[in-house]
Amino acid sequence: MKSETNISKRQVAGLLLDGRARDPGTRGQGRAPANIALCKYWGKRDEAINLPLTPSLSVALGELGAETVLEPIDAADDIFILNGEEVDLRSEAARRVVEYLDLFRPAGLRLRVDSRSSIPVAAGLASSASGFAALALALDDLFGWRLARRDLSIMARLGSGSACRSLYSGFAEWLAGERTDGMDSYAVPLAGEWPAFRIALLMISTAPKPVGSREAMRRTVASSELYRSWPARVAGDIAEIRAGIAARDLERVGRTAEGNALAMHATMIDSRPSILYWKPESVAAMEQVWKLRAAGLKVFFTMDAGPNLKLIYEQGDSAEVERNFPGLRVVAPFGL
Ligand code: PMV
Repeated sequence: MKSETNISKRQVAGLLLDGRARDPGTRGQGRAPANIALCKYWGKRDEAINLPLTPSLSVALGELGAETVLEPIDAADDIFILNGEEVDLRSEAARRVVEYLDLFRPAGLRLRVDSRSSIPVAAGLASSASGFAALALALDDLFGWRLARRDLSIMARLGSGSACRSLYSGFAEWLAGERTDGMDSYAVPLAGEWPAFRIALLMISTAPKPVGSREAMRRTVASSELYRSWPARVAGDIAEIRAGIAARDLERVGRTAEGNALAMHATMIDSRPSILYWKPESVAAMEQVWKLRAAGLKVFFTMDAGPNLKLIYEQGDSAEVERNFPGLRVVAPFGL
């Protein structure tokens, strides 16, 4: 199933920039939304350059995301500021950012990276997708490259796989691609607005995850027998969700997205050693969703590599859903 190649991120960066100059301007800025997958990305065919084994499909979280400003500085080291506070360059988060900048900048250029994330930081939700997409856009602006969206999507993918879907508002599909250099593995926007569509964050726990998504994917692909059926599952689910979006059929999209998330978690549970991100409160919330659905309310959930739920419903059911789940962070991806 694996098609590991030896192409490096640096080589892909070279392909993307295609000889463009690396002379910085005085300032570069980028802003990108977070995204939640309705059909999940789980498993890589190439770990070095984040190539997925399957396609995936997401919805962007509108106003929730990251904004980053880059400025060249005359200093020995970069400066990384997150939500107004300087981050220790030895931290994992800062190391990932510095390594990413190194792929694209000329040797010796130091930068001040000022990033703001409107995703509730304490929520423990993955912010890397919007973070790397905003960083890719800020680099493109700083150097004046004017890369095409598709190339910016590939560029963001090098930071974090799911970041390639954060280049667009609304629904987006990440095409898995087949090439070993990954130049055909990028996200494309899906046409169509769905103003009544709602996705809401239900926070269960903000504690750090026991296993990061990189390691969890690796372990699942290597040890879960159930994972062998995942690519076929995704092929069916993604077609179903695409059709559901085209028909504005919440039931079809919600049912499929929920099943897809549960199937992904099943492959994790089937891994050795098992990976279980759920807390008792996650299970209680799932049961509450099922109970409401049995009573006729159209509400569904999805979950990522953590204990929190994301509820999916339509605006007409907002009051009822929000009454049953106090403290929801509600997102209207297509505006109110
Ligand atoms: O892009 P990463 O490495 O943070 O992985 C994201 C994995 C999931 O959030 C669980 C699924 C997805 O498609 O976003």
